[in-house]
Amino acid sequence: MKKLLLDLSLFCLNCVLLKGLNFCSSGWLQSPTSYSCFKFYHEKKSWGDARSTCQAFNGDLIINLDDKKQNLIAAQRKRHTDEEFWNSLNDRKNEDHFKWLDGTQMISKTYWDDDQPNDEHDNEDSIVLRNAKSNIAKWNDLTCSKHRKFICEFFPDCPGNTFGGRCTDICNLTCGGANNTCKRFDGFCINGCDIGYQGNTCDAPCPVGTFGDKCAKTCNKNCYGSQNACNSVTGACSLGCDDGYQGERCETSCPGNFYGPGCSLKCSVHCNGWNNKCDYTGKCYFGCNDGYIGEKCDEGCDNGTYGANCLEKCSAYCGGLDRECDSRTGKCVSGCAIGFKGDKCDTECDKNKYGANCSQDCSPNCAGPSKECNSTTGECLSGCDDGYEGDKCEYVAVTLGRRPRKNPSDACTPFCGGETKFCDNKTGPCAFHCVPGQHGEMCYIECIATEYKANCSENGSKERQGSQAYVIHELL
Ligand SMILES: *[C@@H]1O[C@H](CO)[C@@H](O)[C@H](O)[C@H]1NC(C)=O
Ligand SMILES: *[C@@H]1O[C@H](CO)[C@@H](O)[C@H](O)[C@H]1NC(C)=O
Ligand SMILES: *[C@@H]1O[C@H](CO)[C@@H](O)[C@H](O)[C@H]1NC(C)=O
Ligand SMILES: *[C@@H]1O[C@H](CO)[C@@H](O)[C@H](O)[C@H]1NC(C)=O
Ligand SMILES: *[C@@H]1O[C@H](CO)[C@@H](O)[C@H](O)[C@H]1NC(C)=O
Ligand SMILES: *[C@@H]1O[C@H](CO)[C@@H](O)[C@H](O)[C@H]1NC(C)=O
Ligand SMILES: *[C@@H]1O[C@H](CO)[C@@H](O)[C@H](O)[C@H]1NC(C)=O
Ligand SMILES: *[C@@H]1O[C@H](CO)[C@@H](O)[C@H](O)[C@H]1NC(C)=O
Repeated sequence: MKKLLLDLSLFCLNCVLLKGLNFCSSGWLQSPTSYSCFKFYHEKKSWGDARSTCQAFNGDLIINLDDKKQNLIAAQRKRHTDEEFWNSLNDRKNEDHFKWLDGTQMISKTYWDDDQPNDEHDNEDSIVLRNAKSNIAKWNDLTCSKHRKFICEFFPDCPGNTFGGRCTDICNLTCGGANNTCKRFDGFCINGCDIGYQGNTCDAPCPVGTFGDKCAKTCNKNCYGSQNACNSVTGACSLGCDDGYQGERCETSCPGNFYGPGCSLKCSVHCNGWNNKCDYTGKCYFGCNDGYIGEKCDEGCDNGTYGANCLEKCSAYCGGLDRECDSRTGKCVSGCAIGFKGDKCDTECDKNKYGANCSQDCSPNCAGPSKECNSTTGECLSGCDDGYEGDKCEYVAVTLGRRPRKNPSDACTPFCGGETKFCDNKTGPCAFHCVPGQHGEMCYIECIATEYKANCSENGSKERQGSQAYVIHELL
C-alpha cells in the first residue's frame, strides 16, 4: 500500500496519473506538481481578505509557483482578462525576504517582472501575478490593501499515510489508527499516537516513567531505578524489578518465602510463622523463632541469652565456664552448677541433696528431721546428730578420755591430731593431722628419731610433744 502510494506520487510528477486520480472537485484545476487544486477568484479583495476566503475551505493563496504551475496559470489566464491575481508570496514580515504562505522561502527560479520588486513607497509587500506579454505570468509587488482578484490553492488530504506538498512523505508509523494518517503539511498525526508514543508527530516515546495509550499509565513503582523506567509500549520495566518483585512489570511480589533481587533469596527458616515469610528485604514478617534474633532472624542468641527475641538469660547456675544454654530452650549445655538442678538449672537441690546434679545425699548424720544440708557444700545446716562432727557430720566425735567405746571401730585411731581428733568415717584417715611424732594416713607410723612435730614436719629435738597420744593409748 505504502509503496503503491509512493509510486503514484512519482508518476504524479508527469501529471499523467494525477489527472486520472481526479481528486479536485469540479471548477478546480489540478496542480501539475503537487497534490493540490487551484481556482481563480474573480471578486477583488485585499491580500488579507483574499487569504481568508481561501482559508475558509482549508486552502490558502496559491503557493510555490514553479515552471509548471506558471505555465498552467498562464494558459488559464488567456481565457481571462488582463487582471492581476494575488498569490501567497510576500515579504510582510521581513522586507526583501519573500516567503510562501506554507513557510517556504522563495529560493527557486523567480518570475519577477522587469524592475520588480520595487517596494514602491516602501509599501509593497504582497505579490500579484500580472498580465505580461510573455506566456509566463510575471510577478509584481503591490500594497497589500489593494483589491485584486486571487488564486486559491486547496490541499486535499494526501492519500493513505502520506503527507507533504506532493504527498510523497510518509507519516510516522507511530501515528495512531490503522493507516497512520497524518495532516497534509505538518505531518501531525490525525488519529493520535500509537500506544507508547506522544507528540504531534508521535515520534517521541512516552516520558520516562509512563507508558501506554496517551502515555497515561505510570510505570510500576517497583520498576528498578529512581525513575521507574519502563517500556513505553508494554510497560515492561526497563531495568528489572526492585528487590522482592518479579514479572514483566514487576507487579508481583516474590512467591512463597523468597525475596531479594529476582526473588533469588530465601527467607530464613528461623522466621516465625507459617512458611517463614519475610518482606522484600528479607525481614521476617512475624519476628523470629525462639533462639534467633535480627531482622532476618539469621543470628542465634548469644552471650548467655535464649528464647523469644533472646530476651531470656541463661541461668547463672548453668555449668561450664561460659554458663552456656540452648538458645531455643534455655537448657544448660554443660549441666548445672553445683547445688542446682533442672534443665535450666534454676532449681536448688532438694533439702537433703547436694553437689553436682544434686546427686549426693546430705549426710544421714545431719541433725534435724529433714537432714538438711547446704546444697552446694553438703554442710549440714542444723548441725550434727549426737556423736558426729564435721561440716558434713562425717566424723565421729571423740571426747578424749570420756567416750565409752563399745567396739574398736567406734573410735578414730588415737594418733589423730587436732582439737577434735576427728577421723573420717570412723575407721578412715585422720581428719586433720597427726599428733606430734606420728605420721601416715592414719597416723600409726612413728616419726624417725629426729622428726617430732605433727606429720613429722620438723627436725629437731627428739622429745615428743604432747602427751595426749599416750592418754588415748591408755584408754585403749
Ligand atoms: C516522525 O516524524 C518526525 C517529524 O515529521 C520526524 O522528524 C521523524 O523522523 C519521524 N520518525 C519516523 C520514525 O518516521
Ligand atoms: C485504511 O486504508 C485502507 C486501504 O486504503 C482502507 O480500506 C481503510 O478504510 C483505511 N482505514 C481507515 C481507518 O482509514
Ligand atoms: C556479645 O558480647 C560481645 C562482647 O560483650 C558483644 O560485642 C556482642 O555484640 C554481643 N552479642 C550479642 C548478640 O549481644
Ligand atoms: C550432671 O548431669 C549432666 C546431664 O545429665 C551430665 O552431663 C553430667 O555429667 C552430670 N554431672 C555429674 C557430676 O554427675
Ligand atoms: C552454702 O555454701 C555456700 C558456699 O560456702 C555459701 O555461699 C552459701 O551461703 C551456703 N548456703 C546456705 C543456705 O547456707
Ligand atoms: C565410710 O565407710 C564405708 C564403710 O566402711 C565406706 O563404704 C565408705 O566409702 C566410707 N566413706 C569414706 C568417705 O571414706
Ligand atoms: C598431716 O597429714 C595429713 C594427711 O596427709 C594432712 O591432711 C594434714 O594437713 C597434715 N598436717 C600438717 C600440719 O602438715
Ligand atoms: C629430718 O632429717 C632427716 C635426716 O637428716 C631427713 O632425712 C629428713 O628429710 C628431715 N625432715 C624434715 C621434715 O626436714
